[in-house]
Amino acid sequence: MAEKRPLGVGLLGVGLIGSRVASLLLEQATADALGRPIELRKALVRRLDAPRDVALPEGVLTSDFTDVLDDDGIDVVVEVMGGEQPAADYLTRLLSKGTSVVTANKEAVSKHGPALRAAPKAPPNTPTCRGVGISVGRV
Ligand SMILES: NC(=O)c1ccc[n+]([C@@H]2O[C@H](COP(=O)([O-])OP(=O)(O)OC[C@H]3O[C@@H](n4cnc5c(N)ncnc54)[C@H](OP(=O)(O)O)[C@@H]3O)[C@@H](O)[C@H]2O)c1
Repeated sequence: MAEKRPLGVGLLGVGLIGSRVASLLLEQATADALGRPIELRKALVRRLDAPRDVALPEGVLTSDFTDVLDDDGIDVVVEVMGGEQPAADYLTRLLSKGTSVVTANKEAVSKHGPALRAAPKAPPNTPTCRGVGISVGRV
């Protein structure tokens, strides 16, 4: 049987939460649970030279949001950078492009829910609350 295409993932933020998310995405057990390979393609940070709690593959780390936005191999973006802006703007631009997004950012969702919902390609149920986290988009 042919190998399934990897799920392309982008990450906004590699801090306390983001480095743990990245570690999980890089673990084989996560792909096994998903039933499909996972490729962490880009991870956005402010400071490229800051120490990280996770070793990312070469070329993944970036400080340029358009590297994430313009990567057509990214199916879903996990936003764990926090703060109202630029996070809300980034989420709106990703949803407008049709990229699925998941966010832990309660501030951005609570203050910008209408703009996120109104993004041209956002699914009709945007945003949705799931458990203790908040996810936005077609996941
Ligand atoms: N910490 C918790 O216990 C917890 C619990 C539940 C939910 N959350 C939510 O999870 C999210 C992340 O929290 P955290 O504690 O992981 O935050 P954090 O440790 O401060 O990490 C934030 C990350 O985002 C990057 N970042 C921030 N602003 C940026 C910008 N303008 N451009 C590019 N990169 C930027 C930072 O880059 P640098 O590393 O280069 O500075 C860092 O990697 C927040 O929405 C928070 O509310 C956190």
